[in-house]
Amino acid sequence: MSQYQIAVVIGSLRKDSLNRKLASAIAELAPSGFSFKQVEIGDLPLYNQDEDANQAQSVKRLKTDIAAAQGLLFVTPEYNRSISGVLKNAIDHVSRPSGQNTWAGKPAGVLGVSVGAIGTAVAQQHLRNILAYLDVPTLGQPEAFIHAKEGFFDEAGALNASSKKFLQNWMDHYVAWVKKHVA
Ligand SMILES: Cc1cc2nc3c(=O)[nH]c(=O)nc-3n(C[C@H](O)[C@H](O)[C@H](O)COP(=O)(O)O)c2cc1C
Repeated sequence: MSQYQIAVVIGSLRKDSLNRKLASAIAELAPSGFSFKQVEIGDLPLYNQDEDANQAQSVKRLKTDIAAAQGLLFVTPEYNRSISGVLKNAIDHVSRPSGQNTWAGKPAGVLGVSVGAIGTAVAQQHLRNILAYLDVPTLGQPEAFIHAKEGFFDEAGALNASSKKFLQNWMDHYVAWVKKHVA
């Protein structure tokens, strides 16, 4: 088993999601000892505090996946200058019941890709606010606001050479960040 298991939370449910492609492509740039699991958030019910004592199986499964991870990777689209509803729903579920915030203390990285020119910058800032509240230490630099121009991914979803170089640098910093926080 890998020494560092990373739970990857993707804020889009779309079949051809650019953010899912990015999440898959960047995982290829990690060194040995790191493994990445894309966790399922599409089958979660809408969060309802009345259900805190009786969480759905899908919620328990997600909390178990997060608990088992040494690090987190959030890959977020930007929806109306914020994160998507499905991502916020997942974050809320894992943060509860009160006193059982499973995110707490897990080192995180934040990435995002958009067809818009600012490349999820506003969504990422909103996400960072939420993660700060949830006691998640989040890599500050380098930032990665990715504008999905033509050719960013090839037909097979692989990165082009310059994107790869940029994201390799990001991954190197992320790996160091996770190692620093995991005893
Ligand atoms: C409801 C909705 C709101 C959107 N709002 C923004 C936005 O605020 N900024 C932006 O850059 N793109 C916005 N977009 C376009 C997304 O960046 C684009 O759909 C992107 O492909 C979504 O990520 P995905 O490919 O991982 O699903 C929006 C798309 C949707 C469906």
